[in-house]
Amino acid sequence: MNSLDDFAQARLDALEARGLRRRMIITDRFSETGARRGGQDLVSFCCNDYLSLSHHPEVIEAAREATARYGTGSGGSRLISGNTPLYDELEGALARWKQTEDCMVFGSGYLTNLGVIPCLAGKGDLVLQDELNHACLFAGGRIGGAAVKVFRHNDLDHARALLAEHRAAHGTCLIAVDGVFSMDGDLAPIDGLAALAREYDAWLMTDDAHGLGVVGGGRGSSFLSPAKSDVPLQMGTLSKAIGAYGGYLCASRPVVDLIRNRGRSFVYSTGLPPGTVAAAIKALEIIERDPDLCARPVANAARFCAALNLPAPASPIVPVILGEAHRVMEASAELQARGFLVTGIRPPTVPEGTARLRVTFSAAHTEAEIDALVAAFRALGLAG
Ligand SMILES: Cc1ncc(COP(=O)(O)O)c(C=O)c1O
Repeated sequence: MNSLDDFAQARLDALEARGLRRRMIITDRFSETGARRGGQDLVSFCCNDYLSLSHHPEVIEAAREATARYGTGSGGSRLISGNTPLYDELEGALARWKQTEDCMVFGSGYLTNLGVIPCLAGKGDLVLQDELNHACLFAGGRIGGAAVKVFRHNDLDHARALLAEHRAAHGTCLIAVDGVFSMDGDLAPIDGLAALAREYDAWLMTDDAHGLGVVGGGRGSSFLSPAKSDVPLQMGTLSKAIGAYGGYLCASRPVVDLIRNRGRSFVYSTGLPPGTVAAAIKALEIIERDPDLCARPVANAARFCAALNLPAPASPIVPVILGEAHRVMEASAELQARGFLVTGIRPPTVPEGTARLRVTFSAAHTEAEIDALVAAFRALGLAG
């Protein structure tokens, strides 16, 4: 072996020893909630396709038509030749749905955070983050060279203390949080953060990857309060409830225009495949017209939680924390043996000692499927 391979192998061995080595398993999502692994048909409870729109016939047809009309790829970055006519329609629909002046779509949610945050907070500036934020908010915060301060999860007093200590010494200040926390399923205290942002001349940004389509009547986490929350930067992804791929930022016209000009992960990256943009347009149309569909994933999560005496969920994501990585992987395997796909989530995705089963619910799960999962959790002593 050469030194490069030695280096890689040593790192892999260390991960293996800690139960943290990851392996990809081919998963054939053959139906709305069905997943086939190694010849076994499973009911999946670990998918972010909360409304199962990736399998919706109208969405598939829209993608097919756009692919036939415009081709499989966009052929360039959007500032060169990749800006298909479909983008205007999607960005207009997202801006209307989020009640902002403008919107821009990126290649993914991760790329959105990598592109947006450094445009607004660079060297000499401050980014305040919740400790449980998604990895790409942290990556976006670091990439521009801003000072990053981390407050305890959903702790407004800690956030205030950090602002009081550090705000004055910095230029701009961004407060960035998951609207719905991806691994815990709880909500950020958005109105409290918005008030802090006003007080300290900071800009609030929510990552609503897990909010769009499933909370706030389908509009996302800024729409949970009776009055729309004051969030000038709402980003999210098209890869979860929308069932397609891509990311977006909904914001004011000048902000979006600045990021169109300076967001490096946008400027220097190819536009999305037209079929993907068309699928997102159709999925959003379905979300807008069907509030009952949007309410179902949380209702399904609530059925599961009530049966197992778990706290009522705020979103379709229910964490069942088991603690140790090996234990979680064992539990996941035991559930698989009973016909359920619930993958284990381990550090560094979640903090040390909090490895968990992250159970996610779709609008398409039946009561019988949920009840069977409850029975399996009980039988395996995982909850209840
Ligand atoms: C909170 C959060 N933000 C951003 C992302 C990244 O989005 P994408 O998968 O579109 O890159 C994810 C998940 O992948 C997420 O959970």
